[in-house]
Amino acid sequence: MKKIAVLTSGGDSPGMNAAIRAVVRKANFHGVEVMGINHGYEGFIEGRMDLLDLGSVGGIIQRGGTKLFSSRCPQFKEDKYQYQGIEKMKAAGVEGLVVIGGDGSYRGALELTKKGFPCVGVPGTIDNDIPGTEYTIGFDTALNTVIESIDKIRDTATSHENSFIVEVMGRDAGDIALWAGLAAGAESVLIPEEAYDIDEIIARIRRGEARGKKHSIIIVAEGVMSGSELAKILKEKANIITRVSVLGHIQRGGSPSARDRVLGGRLGAKAVEVLLEGRGGRAVGIKNHQVIDYDLEEAFTQKHKADLSLYTLSKELSI
Ligand code: F6P
Repeated sequence: MKKIAVLTSGGDSPGMNAAIRAVVRKANFHGVEVMGINHGYEGFIEGRMDLLDLGSVGGIIQRGGTKLFSSRCPQFKEDKYQYQGIEKMKAAGVEGLVVIGGDGSYRGALELTKKGFPCVGVPGTIDNDIPGTEYTIGFDTALNTVIESIDKIRDTATSHENSFIVEVMGRDAGDIALWAGLAAGAESVLIPEEAYDIDEIIARIRRGEARGKKHSIIIVAEGVMSGSELAKILKEKANIITRVSVLGHIQRGGSPSARDRVLGGRLGAKAVEVLLEGRGGRAVGIKNHQVIDYDLEEAFTQKHKADLSLYTLSKELSI
């Protein structure tokens, strides 16, 4: 291959820029040019792209978001748009593509590969929910943002003896809630993967009160219900008054942590290696600290499994 392209797609995540930089620098190291496609698959369909040279990815490793912009592009599910994009790429001499994004973005990458245009997927999402890799780029930074926010909330919760519900991102996956619960010492954590027991949550709050504790932190992943819905249930069922904080999109922003920069660098470089070896239809990931590649299809046909031992532990530690 003499020329490849890179795009970012779906929800952005801190560390995507580090991955873009690695794709460009690694490819250039092997004498391969890289085109940066703007606005994800929307830009792919229209062939909207610019040459990324060594200098163009300087000074981005520490920046959150994505230099290439991102989009969610429902029309890309249609064959005709996929073929249209492939034609644009071929006309520009582009022979392969690195897709940095989540599972929806991987589906598109596999479709393109099946149509003869090789793609490799790099896991970029704060949700940490891509099967086959233990971590995704952006998860660590998002987690640190959540923990920092909860630490601040705890200060005021303690001062005013209030209970707080903190709603975090995670439509289908509870990793952010789960890890944040452990790291911030929350009293209860609600995740989409496990049925919650409202009586148990109430009992936990009551037990805390009985030993003189007048505040507590409950973390709820948005996929379970909203923070305000949970507040309503607690009020109606047990007359427990809570304050609600919805952390929202601040979880997606910010300068990437060291872990996410290193992960972005390692996975971006590996994706180029795999593509240059002529192995399209692969995803890259991390397992037992080693960089791996595996079948792209596995990454969205399997279901991500939250580590439920963390769930049990967080309950044990906030007894
Ligand atoms: O895909 C990551 C994610 O941050 C989810 O956790 C969240 O539910 C979703 O994106 C929000 O997406 P949008 O910004 O498109 O509403």
